[in-house]
Amino acid sequence: MASKLWEKNFTMTAEIERFTVGRDRQLDLYLAESDVLGSMAHITMLESIGLLEANELQALLAELRSILQVIRRGEFVIEDGVEDVHSQVELMLTRKLGDMGKKIHSGRSRNDQVLVDLKLWTRRQLREVVEQVKILFDKLQQQSERYKQVLMPGYTHLQVAMPSSFGLWFGAYAESLCDDMLFLQAAYRMTNRNPLGSAAGYGSSFPLNRTMTTELLGFDSMDYNVVYAQMGRGKTERNVAFALATVAGTLAKLAFDACMFNSQNFAFVKLPNECTTGSSIMPHKKNPDVFELTRAKCNKLQALPQQITLIMNNLPVGYFRDLQIIKEVFLPAFDELKDCLRMAAYIIERMTVNEHILDDPRYDLMFSVEEVNRLAAVGTPFRDAYRQVGLDIEAGRFTPNKQIHHTHEGSIGNLCTAEIAALMQHTLDGFHFERAEEAERKLVEMKNE
Ligand code: ARG
Repeated sequence: MASKLWEKNFTMTAEIERFTVGRDRQLDLYLAESDVLGSMAHITMLESIGLLEANELQALLAELRSILQVIRRGEFVIEDGVEDVHSQVELMLTRKLGDMGKKIHSGRSRNDQVLVDLKLWTRRQLREVVEQVKILFDKLQQQSERYKQVLMPGYTHLQVAMPSSFGLWFGAYAESLCDDMLFLQAAYRMTNRNPLGSAAGYGSSFPLNRTMTTELLGFDSMDYNVVYAQMGRGKTERNVAFALATVAGTLAKLAFDACMFNSQNFAFVKLPNECTTGSSIMPHKKNPDVFELTRAKCNKLQALPQQITLIMNNLPVGYFRDLQIIKEVFLPAFDELKDCLRMAAYIIERMTVNEHILDDPRYDLMFSVEEVNRLAAVGTPFRDAYRQVGLDIEAGRFTPNKQIHHTHEGSIGNLCTAEIAALMQHTLDGFHFERAEEAERKLVEMKNE
């Protein structure tokens, strides 16, 4: 069994090892690429302050680059007996380069190493979530425009209420994503600060150049206070989880609407056959399982901030091993959300709507307010008009006039699609993903002479 980074003159028992390593050997694979990037920046900085020779830096960077290739080919493993990704990378360097490999950990702790790994990884994941949200947003806006002339019933209390339209319905979910995007941006900005150099949470007596690692890794700035940098563990994940949860909330609601409106009793929308699933017993069934699974997965994702909160809630200042467990719920959440976003975009694009719903007289009464307003517009006081139409309805004398005319901003006749697109674009412009991408690319390609 390979020994631990910290092992000195006693060995822990297999049971203790099993329990404390937990699922890190699988979960840390998510972080492997980021771990290597973090090490590249760290050792480049160590050389600049005289803690590594130039030739040592060269050799270490070359080896880290080849480890990165192993990771990108999907061949990287954390071996039995090795605790985590940080130990595995150091072990690989030491096997190849001997003592040089043992020098890289000066001025660093696995505490700030995992912090920086999580920040780099989360930063990239947030970018991918943002891209998927934008794709779904565009599909929703397209459908909103495509069906802006088609009316549908609007409900309150799930009772037929007032005229709505498919333009409004699709467009509402697009606009919801604009607000979700603001959360994603706050999460991204909070994530995009460098914790490296905080070491175990109290800094180091080496004259670390944290500005340099901040620039090398393309962070906007650093988490300055080393105690706060460590305090960001868990807090960052929780706040990012809030952003994921608000997106998931939008998706879960959209999925519920879609399931309901697709049911024969509503029959407002239709999913193409190839997007439905069948029943093993009922030959006629075409079920909206994709939306049902999206709803459940997204409802589950909305528990993520609470799960993280509960794991870290009562921890005082400083690192605790408790924080390791957050990875179990946090890391897999991104793939799940991105998958739901992709599927929602796929189906929304293919969804068609029933253009003749309102031929059914069960929806006639939703035009009552239109009639009241018509009377009020020609001088009848609103309350009297309301009463008159109400009495007509009770007496069975109400006939709807379905020619409606809504003109104000955000209404059936004036969806403000362009304005909503501009809101989204404004937020998107504030991410500046290219800075992080560029820095990472340069760091990997860097040839240090
Ligand atoms: N696996 C650990 C985690 O995720 C890495 C940090 C270990 N640090 C320590 N002091 N034991 O938190």
